[in-house]
Amino acid sequence: MTSDISKILFTADQIQAKVKELAEQIERDYRDKKPVLVGVLNGAFVFLADLMRHLDLDCAVDFVSWSSYGKDTSSSGVFRIMKDLETNVESKHVLIVEDIIDTGLTLHYLLDTIRARKPASVKVVALLDKPSRRRIEAKADYLGFQIPDAFVVGYGLDFAQRYRNLSCIGILKPEIYAGRGTPPDEIE
Ligand code: IMP
Repeated sequence: MTSDISKILFTADQIQAKVKELAEQIERDYRDKKPVLVGVLNGAFVFLADLMRHLDLDCAVDFVSWSSYGKDTSSSGVFRIMKDLETNVESKHVLIVEDIIDTGLTLHYLLDTIRARKPASVKVVALLDKPSRRRIEAKADYLGFQIPDAFVVGYGLDFAQRYRNLSCIGILKPEIYAGRGTPPDEIE
């Protein structure tokens, strides 16, 4: 599978060191709180699983899954909840766990949805950020790495459901998605 990668951006060791560093920051800030970690499926499940094992905190975990309507959704920003939270987050401290912030649309609308449920607080931890692709304001309170505008896979991130199991993160060779006629950022 790594032969489909043109450049490794972060090795498994670099990712693990960063996840530990993020967990230490979060642990300091949430010491006397009981946060609910909200993972955004599917991409964030690997990051969330590693992150929570570094957290010496009394925390709960829940997941949401979003889908966009039709082909134009990234511009219209219309999202549909495929899997909602099972936790009532009213008066709770919510920490959204995202794999990557790209256009920012997913995070923006997820934040709106969660804030409407009146949590005590809501913050975001994201492993990766592609700020040059932003279409709407969206910011992580805790960020792993900023990356250039490239399609990356590994450590939970996929292309057409593949490569999530790679322990590193790398740029996918363009020829892998070239024949499909659709750039990967338009594929669910
Ligand atoms: P946004 O709504 O454009 O910020 O997109 C966020 C979602 O798009 C992420 O949670 C990923 O699932 C997906 N995504 C964006 N960029 C990449 C990438 O480079 N590789 C894999 N998935 C990506």
